[in-house]
Amino acid sequence: MEENNLRSTGWFGRDGKDGFIYRSWMKKQGLPSHLFDGRPVIGICNTWSELTPCNSHFRELAQSVKNGIYEAGGFPVEFPVMSLGESLMKPTAMLYRNLASMDVEESIRANPLDGVVLLCGCDKTTASLVMGACSVNIPTIVVSGGPMLTGKFRGTDISTSDLWRLSEEQRAGEINQQDMLEAEAGMCRSNGHCAVMGTASTMACMVESLGLSLPGNAAIPAMDSRRKILAHMSGSRIVAMVKENLKLSDILTRQAFENAIVTNTAVGGSTNFVIHLLAIAGRIGVNLSLHEFNGIGNNVPLLANLQPSGKYFMEDLYYAGGLPAIMKELLPFLHKDVITANGQTVNENYAAAPCYNAAVIATIDNPVNPIAGVIVIKGNLCIDGAVIKPSAASPHLLQHTGKAVVFENIEDYKERIDKDDLAVDENSILVLKNVGPKGYPGMPEVGNMGLPIKLLKMGITDMVRISDGRMSGTGFGTVVLHVSPEAALGSTLAIVQNGDEITLDVFNKSLHLHVADEEIAARKALLKPFKMASDRGYVSLYQNTVEQAHLGADLSFLKGSSGSIVTKDSH
Ligand code: FES
Repeated sequence: MEENNLRSTGWFGRDGKDGFIYRSWMKKQGLPSHLFDGRPVIGICNTWSELTPCNSHFRELAQSVKNGIYEAGGFPVEFPVMSLGESLMKPTAMLYRNLASMDVEESIRANPLDGVVLLCGCDKTTASLVMGACSVNIPTIVVSGGPMLTGKFRGTDISTSDLWRLSEEQRAGEINQQDMLEAEAGMCRSNGHCAVMGTASTMACMVESLGLSLPGNAAIPAMDSRRKILAHMSGSRIVAMVKENLKLSDILTRQAFENAIVTNTAVGGSTNFVIHLLAIAGRIGVNLSLHEFNGIGNNVPLLANLQPSGKYFMEDLYYAGGLPAIMKELLPFLHKDVITANGQTVNENYAAAPCYNAAVIATIDNPVNPIAGVIVIKGNLCIDGAVIKPSAASPHLLQHTGKAVVFENIEDYKERIDKDDLAVDENSILVLKNVGPKGYPGMPEVGNMGLPIKLLKMGITDMVRISDGRMSGTGFGTVVLHVSPEAALGSTLAIVQNGDEITLDVFNKSLHLHVADEEIAARKALLKPFKMASDRGYVSLYQNTVEQAHLGADLSFLKGSSGSIVTKDSH
C-alpha cells in the first residue's frame, strides 16, 4: 500500500475489520487485490437512463472513460445518480435539478472517491451534476454526451427548434398529424442531446468554457467515434488531476465564470445558462450577480451561426472547428491565463484552434449578428430582473409598447389562447403569471407560449411575451423570461391586468408597466395569498426553500459547500 493523501485510503487503506469490509464487498464484483493498492479511485457519475433518451448511450461512454482511467493507473467505479430527462419529466425537469444535485453531492462525499467524472447530457443533467460536485469540491472533469446528428425531414435539415415552428404550422392548419409523425421520426434519429444551441449544447459549451472539460468537448456528436476518444482521454486525465490535486475550486474562479458568460454570448446560448451558472457560482462560492451579465458579455457579438439564433446545427459546428475555433476568436475578450481541466491555460488550449467553415463560425469583425447574448432587463415589472435573448427575438419588437393580454396561470392560458373572442392583436403583449420557481412549482419552459391561432392564421409569427417562467433553449421569439420576483410572491407581475400598457425596451434594458405606484400598491393589497402545491415530500421542501430566478433558483440551504470530509465513521 502506497502512502498518500487520497480520500479512498480512509476506506481501502485500512487494516482489520474495517478494511476487510470496505474491500471484501467490492471484491465480489471480481476486482483483484492490486486495485486497492492506493491508486486513485475515480467515480464515474452516470446519468444513463432509458427515461432520459438524450443520455441513453452513456453506458458505452462510461466504458470509454473506464478504459482511460485504467490506462492511467486509476481504479474506476461507476455509479448512478438521478437522471433528469427533459422530454418526459412532469411537471418540469427543473423541479428536480436541485434534488439531483443533492444526490450527486451526497453520493460523492459518502463514497471512497478521489476524483469524479461527470457524464452529462440532457439539460439539467449537466447543471445538477456540476452543482452537486461543486458542493464537495474534489478533482472533477466533465464528459458531455454530445449532440444528436442533424435531423432529416423531406429533404431538409431539422432539429428541436423546428418543433416550435412545426407546432405553430399545425395549429394554423398548414400541416397535419401525418406530417408531424414523419417529422418526429426524422428529428431524433440518433443518440445524443438536442442538435441545436439549446440548453444541452449551451451547458456543454458552458462546462468547456469554464474549463471543466477537455478542449473540444462541447460539439463532438454523440455518434462520432471521437466522442469516445474524448471520454477515454478524460478518464486518463482525471487520474492526473487527482495526483495534482486540481480541484473544482482551482478551476472555477471568478475569471472562469466571466469566460463562460463571454462564450455563451458568442454561441447564442440558452437563457437557461443564466439560471444554472448563478446556481453553480453559489455552490462554489464565487460572487456573481444577475446584473453583472450585461457588463461581462458587452460588445461580444454572435459568432456561432446555429439554430435557434442562426441557421446551422451542432454537427456543423463540430465540423467547422467546434468550440475551440470560437474560443480562439474570443481570446481578446477572455481571461487567457486561467487554468483548465487539462492543466493548461485557455490560451494554450485554444490559440491555435483552426476554423474550417466561416459560414458556421463567424469572426468578430464580421459576426452573424452584432446583437448577442442574454440581456438582463429591469423595471417596475421586474424589480430584481428578467432576461431576454435578443438574437432569438424579432428586431422590430425589441422596443415595443403594447397592451397586456393576461393569463393568470398556464391552465388559464391553455383555456383561452385560441378563443375567437380573445381581445388580442399583433401589438398586444401576452403576460403569463404563476409559472415561476414557487408558483408552478419548478419554473417550466412555457415562457415562449404559442401565439393565438387567429393571429397565426394572419401570418403573425412573433409577439412580445412576458412571464416568470423559462423557455426551452431551442425556442425563439421576443420573450421576456425569469421575471423576478415571481407572481406567486405577490410581485408587480401578479397585479398586471388586461389592457395595462407595458413598454419593453431591450436597448435600454428596461421593462415598464405604465400603472401608477399607488394603483400598483392598491392592487397588491387585494391579492390572495399564494397556495402551496403540496404540504409533503420534496415538492413541499422545494416550494418552501427555493430561491428566486435572479439568484439561480437553488434551494437556499444548498448554497455553498460541505466539502469532502466525512465526519462520522460507521465501522
Ligand atoms: Fe434532452 Fe433536448 S430533450 S437535450
